[in-house]
Amino acid sequence: MDRLIIEGGRPLKGGVEISGAKNAALPAMAASLLTGGWHCLERIPRLRDINTIKRIMSKLGTVFREENSHVLEINSDNLTCFEAPYELVKTMRASILLLGPLLARYGRAKISLPGGCAIGARPVNLHLKALVAMGADIYLDHGYINARADRLKGAEIFFDIPTVTGTENIMMAAVTARGRTILKNSANEPEVVDLANALRSMGAHIEGDGTDTIVVEGVRDLKPCNHRIIPDRIEAGTFMIGAAITGGEVRVEGCVPGHLTSLMEKLKLAGARIDPAEKSLTVTGPGQIESVDLMTMPYPGFPTDLQAQFMALMAVARGSSMIRETIFENRFIHVSELRRMGADIEINGNQALIKGKKRLFSAPVMATDLRASASLVLAGLVAEGGRTEVHRIYHLDRGYEAIEKKFRGLGASIWREKE
Ligand code: EPU
Repeated sequence: MDRLIIEGGRPLKGGVEISGAKNAALPAMAASLLTGGWHCLERIPRLRDINTIKRIMSKLGTVFREENSHVLEINSDNLTCFEAPYELVKTMRASILLLGPLLARYGRAKISLPGGCAIGARPVNLHLKALVAMGADIYLDHGYINARADRLKGAEIFFDIPTVTGTENIMMAAVTARGRTILKNSANEPEVVDLANALRSMGAHIEGDGTDTIVVEGVRDLKPCNHRIIPDRIEAGTFMIGAAITGGEVRVEGCVPGHLTSLMEKLKLAGARIDPAEKSLTVTGPGQIESVDLMTMPYPGFPTDLQAQFMALMAVARGSSMIRETIFENRFIHVSELRRMGADIEINGNQALIKGKKRLFSAPVMATDLRASASLVLAGLVAEGGRTEVHRIYHLDRGYEAIEKKFRGLGASIWREKE
């Protein structure tokens, strides 16, 4: 197991190139199961989660070719297995994304039921309810979801809660279903729109993505796609907060500023200066960080995936701020680690009251989930008094490509060591 060592106190300066979005790459890879032939996906990030879905798809019989480190060719002409086993699903819940496409193309799938995870219970009931409405026969057995269907049929689906992977799963299931599927109260995250674009390039008929009502007109045949994954807005946001917390100046390159509006607004209120361009933006950190309240919301609201990182910023702001987490019930696990670095944070239900301190102190801390780990790295960049050690960084490797190299490129003193 690796750990990160950080010596804080250096303002981040320079440019950083953003990788492809993990949460767009995973569904696009799953979507390639929908039809044979060679699909080509560009801007695939090099991440542990991408390796996990590759391992599961390889077990199914999918073949991969790597054109270069970020271009992946995928072929599922000869699938021999339709099962995503517990050993792999337990390490990545997004494996549930294989359910929709497998069922649509092969009429069968057996996927280990993802359990809860560090940030919440995270059920998949809405995925399953929608597939049943489309004619699937689903039963749970020994911890597995067993699904069967002849050709799925279009249906009107109402999601009780807008669910990102739920919307993606049902969109994939619907593209070859008989007739029209209407997804109401669907998620409108940029990653959902990116998947819709990939599916359209395969010949799917989809409208309304990016809104809360998506209409899919089923087609009989699809063709392989050529698709470039969108840049990762959460990675971009993490570097933006990095610029703010260290009082530095960072050019975040190869991002989509329009995907980051809610964060930009909050960072401006915290005192940062933001200069957006077409495919990049520059964040200049303030001399004094101001406190800002926020509440996580579905897109275009403030993303839950940046809540922990923003809390690290508020831990060194002037005054007190309130952060309310509305998406996941247990997404404050970073708090106890930030406290070990001197942060003053009280939790009451889904609200955290952060009383900003003048400084944080280095300490050994434990990464507990992907975004919580990123907040500890950000805190480490400003911690005083020596080395911050972030243990269990395999969580970070799930979703941040070469994170220490990118921070080092911005002047941070950060490196990886074996435990
Ligand atoms: N929910 C249900 N039933 C369902 C599905 C969801 O009750 O069947 C609830 C969840 O428990 C949660 C809410 O609905 O309270 C929203 O969850 P959602 O389904 O949107 O989350 P997800 O699709 O499992 C994706 C991202 C997460 C990100 C969330 C929210 C991927 C692979 N994962 O998860 O990313 O936090 O949307 O934006 O796209 C991460 O990258 O670190 C990460 C956790």
